[in-house]
Amino acid sequence: MRGKFVTFEGCEGSGKSTQIKLLGQYLKQQDIDFVVTREPGGSRIAEEIRSIILDGRNGEMCAECEALLYAAARIQHLNEVVAPALESGKLVLCDRYVDSSLAYQGYARGLGMKFIEDINYAALYKYQPDLTIFLDIPPRLAFERKHGADKNDRMESEGIAFHERVYQGYKTLLRKYPRITEIYCCGTKFETSDIIIRVLKEKGIIRG
Ligand SMILES: Nc1ncnc2c1ncn2[C@@H]1O[C@H](COP(=O)(O)OP(=O)(O)OP(=O)(O)O)[C@@H](O)[C@H]1O
Ligand SMILES: [Mg+2]
Repeated sequence: MRGKFVTFEGCEGSGKSTQIKLLGQYLKQQDIDFVVTREPGGSRIAEEIRSIILDGRNGEMCAECEALLYAAARIQHLNEVVAPALESGKLVLCDRYVDSSLAYQGYARGLGMKFIEDINYAALYKYQPDLTIFLDIPPRLAFERKHGADKNDRMESEGIAFHERVYQGYKTLLRKYPRITEIYCCGTKFETSDIIIRVLKEKGIIRG
């Protein structure tokens, strides 16, 4: 049987990596076979594309180029890492997926959802996530959690107005796609983790 595909979304510092790690610990205790991966990256070629996108020297990169690079990394990662794991019945936890492109490039950078959906056609129609966890925390709060971040990272140096737009983008997606579940995560990381585990059980992703 095909494994379940769960993606984690949210603004920078919302706690995606923290929550995936905590969920991984729980799944290990429960003897549930899973794979953790991330976007953009997770495979050699996709990681190389990621380093071009995030390189602080590439400030002149236009929005369309950025979006196409994300789409290229995504389909490579999907074919090389996600698809084989799903086909072998594993639960796949992916740190960011197509909703990041829709929120960041489609909405916040103004390229439009249609353009992003078109260039991500292969990924979107091949493997839809069974569940997307949106970690909902206002960007300013999330940002404060992340001080000391890499100053050469282009995305992190965008400023708060951009991240507010990303947040609004996610809220728009939430209304459009029923597969996205919003989880308020202003409490401790353990409180948020408990909620995520409960949701995974309720949605039939893991046995409860
Ligand atoms: N519930 C929480 N309360 C307080 N701090 C938290 C909480 N969850 C995570 N943090 C801290 O906030 C910071 C950002 O968390 P994390 O790196 O998991 O976010 P992220 O969503 O993965 O960010 P990015 O998109 O940049 O990868 C970390 O220092 C983490 O320890
Ligand atoms: Mg992270």
